[in-house]
Amino acid sequence: MNIVVTGAGRGIGLGFVQHYLAKGANVWACYYSDKSKLDEIASSKLKTIRWDVAEELSEDFINQSDFPGSINLLINNAGVYGPNKEAGQSLDNIRADAMLDVLNINCLGPIRVVQGLKSRLVAASGKIANISSKMGSVEDNTSGGCYAYRASKACLINVSKSMAIDLAPFNVSVITLHPGWVKTDMTNQSGLIDVATSAAGMTEVIQNIDTYTPGAFVAFDGKLIPY
Ligand SMILES: NC(=O)c1ccc[n+]([C@@H]2O[C@H](COP(=O)([O-])OP(=O)(O)OC[C@H]3O[C@@H](n4cnc5c(N)ncnc54)[C@H](OP(=O)(O)O)[C@@H]3O)[C@@H](O)[C@H]2O)c1
Repeated sequence: MNIVVTGAGRGIGLGFVQHYLAKGANVWACYYSDKSKLDEIASSKLKTIRWDVAEELSEDFINQSDFPGSINLLINNAGVYGPNKEAGQSLDNIRADAMLDVLNINCLGPIRVVQGLKSRLVAASGKIANISSKMGSVEDNTSGGCYAYRASKACLINVSKSMAIDLAPFNVSVITLHPGWVKTDMTNQSGLIDVATSAAGMTEVIQNIDTYTPGAFVAFDGKLIPY
């Protein structure tokens, strides 16, 4: 089983890496700025590749990287919150450059990654899990604000649905996931669940991907989220 995880250097991405290595899978862990936590893992089944998903995709990068010819599972996990909740993402303060940066990483990033790895996912009739957030749900938005993050994750839910439809003829299954409120740097460790619980729950959902409508939006506990 060949698995690619983006944003794998810390937080939930690192949790996925640890989970799948423990299950005996081969994992290509894509990191952005720091791979020190990945270097601490002693496993011949782990490969690390630097991938900034905000950058335009280059054919050379994919061809020269050590990705396998067939990929069973891609987890588009890399993401940012963006400017500070109170100061930077209020109606008065949100600015185009900040909003576009967040959109570029959280929504265009997964598109670039899928564009780069599509043929390898098709070769394995693989699965794609796009990590969005309940904060991208319009129905769940009762507190307003967070313009950049909410919009980027709503955009990803929609993009993920299109991917699910477009890749179904190639036998590639796509699901959109909400990890729960997780104790990571993004939440200043203030979440309700730890990374291992979130990753374990989401991997179970991924395992049962065929029981969900293509592109469904599902939480780590298997519950559908209206969006
Ligand atoms: N934590 C939660 O409660 C929660 C809830 C809902 C959704 N999520 C989503 O779950 C995913 C993981 O979140 P987390 O809590 O683990 O966040 P985190 O601890 O802040 O980790 C974010 C990861 O994304 C990477 N990243 C940032 N910019 C990148 C770029 N341009 N290219 C590639 N990788 C990049 C970071 O790399 P560096 O270490 O190099 O910066 C890091 O590995 C995100 O998509 C997030 O929106 C989290």
